[in-house]
Amino acid sequence: MKEITRKELIKKYTEFFKENKHKLIPSSSLIPVNDPTVLFTTAGMHPLIPYLVGQKHSLGKKLTSVQKCIRTRDIDEVGNSTHHTFFEMLGNWSLGDYWKKEAIEFSYKFLTKQLKIPIEKLAVSCFKGDEDSPKDEESFKIWLELGIPKERIAFLNKRHNWWGPAGKTGPCGPDTEMFYWISSKKPPKKFNPEDKNWVEIWNDVFMQYNKTNSGKYAPLKQKNVDTGMGVERTLAVLNNLADNYQTSLFLPIIKEIEKISKKKYEKNKKEMRIIADHIKAAVFILGDDYGIKPSNTEHGYILRRLIRRAIRYGKSLRIEQNFITKVAQTVFPIYEKDYPELKKNRNFILANLDEEENKFRKTVERGLRKFEKISKNKKKIGGEDSFLLFQSYGFPIELTEELAYEKGVVVDIKDYENEYKKHQELSRTASAGKFKSGLSDDSEATTKLHTATHLLNEVLTIVLGKEVKQKGSNITPERLRFDFTFSKKLTDEEKKKIENLVNGKIKEKLKITKDEMPLKKAFKSGAQGEFGHKYPEMVSVYTILDSKNKRGWFSKEICTGPHVKNTKELGHFKIIKETSSSSGVRRIKAELK
Ligand code: ALA
Repeated sequence: MKEITRKELIKKYTEFFKENKHKLIPSSSLIPVNDPTVLFTTAGMHPLIPYLVGQKHSLGKKLTSVQKCIRTRDIDEVGNSTHHTFFEMLGNWSLGDYWKKEAIEFSYKFLTKQLKIPIEKLAVSCFKGDEDSPKDEESFKIWLELGIPKERIAFLNKRHNWWGPAGKTGPCGPDTEMFYWISSKKPPKKFNPEDKNWVEIWNDVFMQYNKTNSGKYAPLKQKNVDTGMGVERTLAVLNNLADNYQTSLFLPIIKEIEKISKKKYEKNKKEMRIIADHIKAAVFILGDDYGIKPSNTEHGYILRRLIRRAIRYGKSLRIEQNFITKVAQTVFPIYEKDYPELKKNRNFILANLDEEENKFRKTVERGLRKFEKISKNKKKIGGEDSFLLFQSYGFPIELTEELAYEKGVVVDIKDYENEYKKHQELSRTASAGKFKSGLSDDSEATTKLHTATHLLNEVLTIVLGKEVKQKGSNITPERLRFDFTFSKKLTDEEKKKIENLVNGKIKEKLKITKDEMPLKKAFKSGAQGEFGHKYPEMVSVYTILDSKNKRGWFSKEICTGPHVKNTKELGHFKIIKETSSSSGVRRIKAELK
């Protein structure tokens, strides 16, 4: 296939939908005006939320756009080949107009006729169904009729085939996703969604629900279609490139980093990807007409984090002089034709980047030395120290956390927050809640995952040995993340065993009790606490009772909660990923279905 450029891809897409009676809407701001539940526009649907819930759009019911987006949830995954903080999304919408048949036909036609992808290289997934919404037989039949063989259609659960809401509440629904076979080997007859050679390129979401504050899925007034195709990934796969950073959307940026660092991308992929990604995102955030500057709250805090993280990775490449604006300048030629705000705000962007770099460089060297001192021979960094790194050396707490992870040290985030509050007399900033670790809220989903974490903690000592110790945990409504001391990669058998044991305890319907007691008594009773953690005199102990166990309980932990009342509430436990976190520390990500 001949190389396809960003411009060509965008043109093909928007022209196709215009020919099919869609109206092109311009990319809107990176700061969502219509959705207070998130800091940034994370998808093309964001500016359309009022119209998805029933308001009339002046351009009609069929729309298409190329939307600039920022996603920060996956920031710790930036550095792999496909996750970006900034990206562009192609999309088409039906606002209560066409439904599954037309939407899927549009997607199919665009992929096979416009992009000329042979049908043999395509596979799709549909929603499997659950208590919130039925199995999507309708999409399945439409794909079959279009010629996608049955073996190439997978039915998957909510984690895979459901999109939204973008924030805590709002429009969402089941989706059908399209995958492209990237390997030069012949694609297998049967679609295996776990096979990395199948890359997701497009998502058609059938937005027919509104997730409410109480977590219910209420039907929307109208049935909408919301689709999204990432420009970076699509260009990479269509052009047969090894990763997104080799596309024309990143190559000039990477080349500049190579030049400045006098190092090769091939040998320094992670660092260069992070720098390129973060600087591009920072240019776009500063370039938005909203006028955001680096600061310690909300959008400005994320901007600050991006710039400082790029500088820190620059230091890993031994770049000791200011380099951010040099790299930033390579971003403009790629995008400024389509985003005139970049040109207009060029001076503002560069001046702020430079100022932020100067500020951080003044203290980063001393800060890193201070960090080394603080973390030496320690298992845990307390609030006073991490706050000192923040206040006196400008280290965002996440940076301290990242440095600590690399050394296998834990940062006590709660303690940091207390310290922060004490000093600033500020309540937690919105960005802290939306952007960083800890239990991000007390929703039902996080509460369940929290209890599952206790089960997992105990099960790990059964399967892997008593020496396994918790190193850290982080819970979002979607998944739990648990770090623990262990030196080897887990085998498939071990993982299966862990899942089975946790699920076994869920099925046993074990009750959970909470008791307040003096710390000494808690330890005496056998409760686990984190090593080196400073606990108050009176603590809460959560016990998962188990009459079959000699001691009468399965797990006992000193913990602030909250937890569910009975393990039967948890559903099905599944490990999503098991990786290394730092030397001698493994990381499990798991979900409940
Ligand atoms: N909003 C959907 C997504 O981001 C299309 O994948």
